[in-house]
Amino acid sequence: MNQITAYAPATMANFNVGYDILGLSLNDIGDEVELRINGTEENNILDIINGKGLPMDSDKNCCSVVIRKMQEALNNFKGVDIIITKGFAAGSGLGSSSASSAAAAFAYNELMGKPYSNKELVAFAAEGERIACGSAHVDNVAPSILGGVVLSKGKKASDLIQLPLIENLYAVTFFPAIKVNTSDARKILNNTIDLKTLSQQVSFMGAFVSSLYEKDIDLFSASLKDLVVEPRRSLLIPRFKELKKAALENQALAFGISGSGPSVFAIAKNEDEADNIIQAMERVYADLSIKTQAHKHLLCKDSGARIVKK
Ligand code: HSE
Repeated sequence: MNQITAYAPATMANFNVGYDILGLSLNDIGDEVELRINGTEENNILDIINGKGLPMDSDKNCCSVVIRKMQEALNNFKGVDIIITKGFAAGSGLGSSSASSAAAAFAYNELMGKPYSNKELVAFAAEGERIACGSAHVDNVAPSILGGVVLSKGKKASDLIQLPLIENLYAVTFFPAIKVNTSDARKILNNTIDLKTLSQQVSFMGAFVSSLYEKDIDLFSASLKDLVVEPRRSLLIPRFKELKKAALENQALAFGISGSGPSVFAIAKNEDEADNIIQAMERVYADLSIKTQAHKHLLCKDSGARIVKK
């Protein structure tokens, strides 16, 4: 095999209760990475389709950096030409660099005869995050590779916990096209948290995990609350409070910021409610000159990285 293409989905990191340690895959949108063995020891970015402004330099592009890390670990430098097709906007808070990093790791692993398990690929893909935003957190790359809801208590394969999904719910994502840098959105956060807030937030995480195992939608809804990050980052998102009110008035089970924003998300019980929430959020922005993009995503099994062409 000399050529392969992998797809990896967008993701929603943090999911209100797990800053830097929890994420959910959004099956319907994602990036494709095509690799062609080029007979040298170099990795070259040939093209980034729909990715204007993203780095073509192989020392700066997240896909080539991930592949280089895998080559170093394998001590086998089989170089590849790389074509990246972006399926959604970079800088949206939906894990754009992660989807490319995850697809690159998944494709290169397959090309090399699968030396690594999917969980082992997460640490390599996290190196793409390090180059893209300066921090190698795995809350986007882990669900992008593994699919579903993933809790990570570290970066090692054994630290990654795949939680059960309540299937047939819909995630709605709403992207106001304004610029929010992940590094700025990280700097804006407080470094300390008072004990009472910590205690309450930990109880929400525990209740959320329990709700997934029990398939308890009321508990799921009651526990998906962010007392720590949202109060600060919501200041960067125009009309955040109005968006939240619109979603909750339209039966959203939960609402919050996707990753470092500016996208926000809502969880809906079914497709009709997802459509209503999208319309209500679009009405909130109707008189603003900010472009928006909304998507609905069915939460389903097998929503992680996959090979789409050999
Ligand atoms: N957990 C990260 C953050 C996700 O919230 O900053 C964005 O990369």
